[in-house]
Amino acid sequence: MRNVRPIFLNRIGDKEGYLIPIENNKNIPFAIKRVYYIWNVPKGEERGFHSHKKLEQLLICIHGSVKVKVVTFSEEEEYLLDSPDKGLYIGPMVWREMMDFSEESVLLVMASELYTEEDYIRNKKQHLNLAKKYFCKEE
Ligand code: TYD
Repeated sequence: MRNVRPIFLNRIGDKEGYLIPIENNKNIPFAIKRVYYIWNVPKGEERGFHSHKKLEQLLICIHGSVKVKVVTFSEEEEYLLDSPDKGLYIGPMVWREMMDFSEESVLLVMASELYTEEDYIRNKKQHLNLAKKYFCKEE
């Protein structure tokens, strides 16, 4: 699917435990300007419901599991993030919804830009219109 791809992160270590380094433009396709994490999400709560005009992000569920639904305008996929070595890259103009947060899950997000509400598209209809223009221009 365009602007979305799972990224497997190679872990280092063995019996002594695991470690995963994440390096700008090395094992992820952008440079990180911001990191945030989401936790303590009540059972049944859903988050996201927006896309971004420019932002690139990498999502990793570093504890527990979460389901992520991604939508361009013509494509839709669902990913289960249930391991610290499973990353999900989400680029611009992709609508995302996060659901089924397991108890005590922690979703870590790395982002290519600082926070600005200007970059958000929070209306699904508007997203579908803009995504259609964005992806059709690419073809
Ligand atoms: P939002 O991105 O909508 O969260 P989610 O997609 O997980 O549902 O952000 C929730 C609130 O937090 C919103 O009011 C904006 C604010 N926020 C920041 O102030 N800085 C940030 O870096 C992020 C990601 C959100």
